[in-house]
Amino acid sequence: MNNVKERILKALRDSHQEGTGQPVSGGELAKRLGFSRAAVWKHIEELRRSGYPVAASPRLGYWLEAEEDLVFPEAIAETLSQAPAGRGRVPEWRIEHHLSLPSTNDRAMELAQDGAPEGTVVMAEEQTRGRGRLGRAWHSPKGTGIWLSTILRPACSPAATAAVTLVAAVALSRAIEAESGLRPGIKWPNDLLLSGRKVGGILTEISAELDRVNHLVLGLGVNSNHAAGDFPPDLAGLATSLRIELGRKVSRTALTVRILAEFASSYQEFLERGFASARAEWLERSATLGRAVVATGPTSRLEGLAVDLDPDGALIIKTPAGDLHRVTGGEVTLRS
Ligand code: BTN
Repeated sequence: MNNVKERILKALRDSHQEGTGQPVSGGELAKRLGFSRAAVWKHIEELRRSGYPVAASPRLGYWLEAEEDLVFPEAIAETLSQAPAGRGRVPEWRIEHHLSLPSTNDRAMELAQDGAPEGTVVMAEEQTRGRGRLGRAWHSPKGTGIWLSTILRPACSPAATAAVTLVAAVALSRAIEAESGLRPGIKWPNDLLLSGRKVGGILTEISAELDRVNHLVLGLGVNSNHAAGDFPPDLAGLATSLRIELGRKVSRTALTVRILAEFASSYQEFLERGFASARAEWLERSATLGRAVVATGPTSRLEGLAVDLDPDGALIIKTPAGDLHRVTGGEVTLRS
């Protein structure tokens, strides 16, 4: 989005947030931005064509409808830049916002290949080919979720990146709790569950040499504002959204800020002191430990009790015979 449109959105959003519900007149916007009223009108028309619900009345001016349905990249960047110094290793997130993309992970991978710095974030209002783990599709309809990917360049081995994903799961669970009061449990490795249904997931992809990571793309999906009927039949019963659980919509902008702020601080802690602190919190937030599980890989199936998380992030399963197995990939299903 170009800078002028972001400034218009900011002006409309500021008036919305002041709680006055006052529209901003075309004349006022023109004055603030240093344009003619005709130019303001032209940009507002373009914003509307892009899907931003800007209402207008010739007498009153312009205002935003349903702020929680919108993501404001500029507001995200601004809020994050005001975070207390030293709180995040990536103080300057660079946000690239799209109305529609096949997959934010694909776009972030391309940018990373072209040298985009750590902290680059790609967001989309919808994904037309959103991807989940294990080759699955990820349902990403317009305006209802947070679909974002961030580029990281940790100086670590490919094996250590599994822990980064668990660090992200903890940060995501913490951010959702801070923003909504709901506390999602984590199903190994990084599914977020509310009422036993999936509310969020993480897809981590890496470009690496044998012993060194070039870059890592961390893709986060959170079902935020789906109504019950918004999920396709194959997901009904398996997926939920924050809105369904809370009975109200959430601000995707505010939640995105939380996610990025929580992740920045957890990631910094991980880089400086390793996985121990996130591991402890993963254990607290786990929806897996103590549960009877089935772990399936491409050629294997293991049933047992999930008993621990190894210091490198592998799940430890104890079989009925008492043997301990490390699970490092594949799918883990909870048995009821
Ligand atoms: C999973 O639980 O299977 C992982 C889901 C990850 C979905 C996110 S949405 C943003 C990013 N782009 C994608 O195509 N996938 C991830």
